Amino acid sequence: MTGTGNERARKTAEGLAYSAGFGNEHSSEAVTGALPVGRNSPQRAPLGLYAEQLSGSAFTEPRSHNRRTWLYRIRPSAAHPAFTRMDNGAVRGAPFTETEPDPNRLRWNPLPDPGAPTDFLAGLWTLGGNGDATQRTGMAIHLYHANASMEHRVFSDADGELLIVPEHGGLLIRTELGLLRAEPGHVALIPRGVRFRVELLDATARGYVCENYGQPFQLPDLGPIGANGLANARDFLAPAAAYEDTEGPFEVVNKFCGNLWRATYAHSPLDVVAWHGNHVPYVYDLRRFNVIGSISYDHPDPSIFTVLTSPSDTAGLAGVDFVVFAPRWLVGENTFRPPYFHRNVMSEYMGLVEGAYDAKAEGFVPGGGSLHNMMSAHGPDRETFDRASAAELKPQKIDDGLAFMFETRWPVTLTGQAAGADHLQSGYDQVWQGLERHFRP
Ligand SMILES: [Fe+2]
Repeated sequence: MTGTGNERARKTAEGLAYSAGFGNEHSSEAVTGALPVGRNSPQRAPLGLYAEQLSGSAFTEPRSHNRRTWLYRIRPSAAHPAFTRMDNGAVRGAPFTETEPDPNRLRWNPLPDPGAPTDFLAGLWTLGGNGDATQRTGMAIHLYHANASMEHRVFSDADGELLIVPEHGGLLIRTELGLLRAEPGHVALIPRGVRFRVELLDATARGYVCENYGQPFQLPDLGPIGANGLANARDFLAPAAAYEDTEGPFEVVNKFCGNLWRATYAHSPLDVVAWHGNHVPYVYDLRRFNVIGSISYDHPDPSIFTVLTSPSDTAGLAGVDFVVFAPRWLVGENTFRPPYFHRNVMSEYMGLVEGAYDAKAEGFVPGGGSLHNMMSAHGPDRETFDRASAAELKPQKIDDGLAFMFETRWPVTLTGQAAGADHLQSGYDQVWQGLERHFRP
């Protein structure tokens, strides 16, 4: 996209209105009177629109988990020719079988800049994942790099919901339900099956995507924390209805059971004039996360930083958690304050949106990532250990970084391109070398 295009997208993004609240029954109409009153499917929907239900859960799931949105659109989604297979590019899906699961600690530099014009979809690059998209279990980790907006092209993912974590460059995400602005430090959550197009607010864009095949992300229970805290529901913003009344060929790309399929619509499929429901996209500013930690000694397990969780059938065991390490105070007395050494049955992919992470002195850079698979031993590097072991324990503000984690119940198996990437760092193990023995019996 040209600089003018970026500016136009930014101007649009800066004027957006939202409705607040996670999991609400939202409703919105771009034209007054477009939303039927008192019923979902009147004999003739208002203004000559078509009514269409988008179900994100089985019809019969409990009310607390039931998700659907009614869409009132210029043409029904069904008005399209056959989907045909297209090249998957660098997108891969579960089950991941290209490599053997790797017990080593791994770390990557950022994706290199794309050369040719590359939009968000063409710039999606799969690192790995677990589970099986056809069974709606597990997750995938993708990164993206883009230098062009999607034009006359719309994407949707039947396999799962997409949690987009911009690291560089803002995004204007035009969804069926309306527009979202996602800047670095924000996350955008696109529900399964919702169509969207990404325009760039800056010349280039880069970031991370967690594709969640399992149960939709929800806010974690708070237990003894009480009624407030961590990510507050009111800080999640749903879009206002906005539609495109545009004729002409649109390529609609559907990710289905790991593969990309396309059909050419004769009109923009972002033609929803009004909608109501709870299967809706959101944007959330991670800086609004209410960070809770110790005010005595030790620090809680990092689950205290959970923003969103996708529960499994086992209580307390997430298919995937999204966790943020946001600016916070450390005040623990007689406490080793950085993250402790540990081995974890869960598998951890970490990324960095900005600044630095307090357990790694070097090598973990914004746009890069690390993978500590099931039971791999990790923790602070030697330099961090030495510094934190000798530090004067006055109150300390950690305010120079925004790191996050996709933590998943199953090991992450890499794609071939991730295992063989030029930007895979060699020698990551070295950061834990030189941890001397101090034992003096
Ligand atoms: Fe860890």
